[in-house]
Amino acid sequence: MENGNYWRGNFCLEVSPTPDILVIFGASGDLARRKLLPAIYNLFRRELLHGDSHIVGCARHDYDTASFRELLRGVLPPAEPEQLEAFLQRIHYLRGDYGDPESYRQLGAKLEELGKLDAAMPLNYTFYLATPSSLYLTIVPQLSAAGLLKEDFEGTPWRHVVMEKPFGRDTASAQELDLELHRYLKERQIYRIDHYLGKETVQNILMLRFANIIFEPIWNQHYIAKVEITAAEEIGIGRRAGYFESAGLLRDMFQNHMLEMLSMVAMEMPGEFSADAIRDEKLKLIRAIRPFPQKNLETVLVRGQYAAAGDLAGYRQEEGVAAGSTTETFVAAKLLIDNWRWRGVPFFLRSGKRLKRRLSEIAITFKAVPHSIFQPIRAQDMTPDTLVLSVQPEEGMSLTIQAKQPGPKLCMGGLMMHFNYAELAGGESFEAYERLLLDAMLGDQTLFIRSDIIAASWRLFTPVLEAWRNPECCPLELYPAGSSGPSGADRLTEWREL
Ligand code: NDP
Ligand code: BG6
Repeated sequence: MENGNYWRGNFCLEVSPTPDILVIFGASGDLARRKLLPAIYNLFRRELLHGDSHIVGCARHDYDTASFRELLRGVLPPAEPEQLEAFLQRIHYLRGDYGDPESYRQLGAKLEELGKLDAAMPLNYTFYLATPSSLYLTIVPQLSAAGLLKEDFEGTPWRHVVMEKPFGRDTASAQELDLELHRYLKERQIYRIDHYLGKETVQNILMLRFANIIFEPIWNQHYIAKVEITAAEEIGIGRRAGYFESAGLLRDMFQNHMLEMLSMVAMEMPGEFSADAIRDEKLKLIRAIRPFPQKNLETVLVRGQYAAAGDLAGYRQEEGVAAGSTTETFVAAKLLIDNWRWRGVPFFLRSGKRLKRRLSEIAITFKAVPHSIFQPIRAQDMTPDTLVLSVQPEEGMSLTIQAKQPGPKLCMGGLMMHFNYAELAGGESFEAYERLLLDAMLGDQTLFIRSDIIAASWRLFTPVLEAWRNPECCPLELYPAGSSGPSGADRLTEWREL
């Protein structure tokens, strides 16, 4: 199908970015190289980065501006050479120590110098902390002491700080981190990122639910039998043992990405399309999730760890992982939401590393019709109507409904209608980080997490982390690397095929 044929009129909210200096701490790291800088480059190519903007990489690694630009030449997606060169001219590198005031003095001088180059107005600063979160309370106070976080009364030019997840390790540490950060920053300056919110399909949930009349009447316990949310990865932990050993999958994926997807699917309609109205509804939803039971936790929550299988190493054989590590690399859970809309509808969530394949999706399974007139086919024999929102690797949507199969006989079966975002975008896919970086530079917090939501999600999961510390509680179930996860997860529900 031709691209344009999909759309029957569309409306775009166009916002132009103002000139900005984006400072990336941890610029030598994996996130900066693999995700952030390619995303910024794509914004530049799409003319979504203001022409007077600059990017300053900061880290301890021994680069200078020339060698950092050279590194990026090998990393950035191929494009017109002149375009790449023009972009690289906007890139700068400052080597420094995160705790050394002198580094921030030099950074301040650099920002001032760049600000005078071509901009007619004072530049906004966006600081991206792409470092381990243990450094946030080193970097932010130093930025503040150097006067780099100061905004005027109305917040212009702005000073935004983007922080990566996980935000804290549990309720107490997240609260402490939050309190400390608020000594230096106002909430409107803090951008807690969850890159799943930048994915097309996840954003589309709001439009699907709230810009169509056909879904809302059936989006509740009367019509929905269950919701399954999966974020499965084929990769193991790679070289991230240092981080993952102390995080584990519950902190890495559940407390943030999984809960955000759940709240987009299940929240009530906000009064308006604004950052706070949407986040208010998410907060209400997360607070309505029934706390996990203190007894028999394993009946609703299964944790697993991948074991060696075939050529694939087990988690305990990965570089940097303790031989007897009990860190979970898989979690499956059944959640219930105590409100009128969702009373009794189970939400099944699973996420894991080293699974059969990479697949993230949200599957909504509808109830069977109350009575079948197509005897002898009974209502319960029919394939349930299912709406699947595919998050990755393909971004799209499919709806399976009962339909007559063509032919003279009466044959009925599940018919799948499907669409794929990449086809709409002419095969080009948009990285979640593009959208989120743009929003951070535009001052739009809608897709960023507010501190009360972080607190509510830790309140849900901290008791689980505490229960897991008790050796009597909840076995860690081993699963073969490359499989669908521990068989114990099947106790919760009959999952969709991975
Ligand atoms: P890296 O381990 O690659 O660290 C980033 C940089 O931080 C390093 O290059 C290093 O730069 C600096 N650093 C400073 N102190 C330390 C330290 N004690 N240990 C390790 N590095 C240090 O991490 P990532 O880039 O993978 O992740 C950065 C943040 O982004 C983390 O919070 C992570 O959870 C989050 N994240 C990462 C994703 C990814 O795909 N990588 C995806 C989503 C979130 P130098 O030594 O030069 O100063
Ligand atoms: C990150 C986690 O937040 O998300 C990683 O720290 C995980 O462990 C990654 O691999 C998954 O992101 P995506 O976009 O590849 O699904």
